Amino acid sequence: MRLKEIFALIERTKIFADIGCDHGLLCKMVADSDKAERIIATDISEACLNKAKLMLGDRAEYFLGDGLEPLKDIIPNITVISGMGGNTILHILENRLLPEIIISPQNDVYKVRDKLVSNGYKIIEDKVVSDNNKFYDIIKLVPGKQNLTELQKTFGVFYFRGEGAFMQRLFQTKQKILTYKLTKENEKKLQEISEVEKCLKSKM
Ligand SMILES: C[S@@+](CC[C@H](N)C(=O)[O-])C[C@H]1O[C@@H](n2cnc3c(N)ncnc32)[C@H](O)[C@@H]1O
Repeated sequence: MRLKEIFALIERTKIFADIGCDHGLLCKMVADSDKAERIIATDISEACLNKAKLMLGDRAEYFLGDGLEPLKDIIPNITVISGMGGNTILHILENRLLPEIIISPQNDVYKVRDKLVSNGYKIIEDKVVSDNNKFYDIIKLVPGKQNLTELQKTFGVFYFRGEGAFMQRLFQTKQKILTYKLTKENEKKLQEISEVEKCLKSKM
């Protein structure tokens, strides 16, 4: 489900790259679909890259190493970086403005949105999906200018649409916080959730 949602955001292109490809499942979906002329699979772990090689054989090109470093002068038209922590994604994209990226950070999503937008990216898709009882943010960015509100950094650029698994996650997050001690931080989170709820109600 998560990978299918990422796959759906990939348009036909020349060079597609999956950074941290692990099993190579996403590359296989792209190869089977003919969405890309060249498929680049990279991973920092040789064992993981070998899994992708087994999965795809000569349908992809393989690079071992940290983030985009092993690609040298290859600039992918579409780059996916998913299933890693937010800080790892930011490290991989440090000083790199790529034509189009699709990311799915496992944590620190506020920081990722904030930093990448400050670094010259614009978020053009931002959704919440649910897979195996877990929620994932999937974000598509291109070079551009954008100003984000605090609520957009926290809940996603298009939170006001309440689409996908967004409402389910909002509800679960609120219920969880209500079981915690009411610290200043939790009070702030509940306040933000209530602002989002108000905004969504006003659009009904
Ligand atoms: C949890 S898996 C996610 C696999 C796949 N991208 C997905 O979303 O299902 C994370 C993968 O990222 C790789 N990885 C972690 N840090 C990396 C880095 N700095 N550069 C390249 N690959 C990295 C790991 O070796 C692992 O294969």
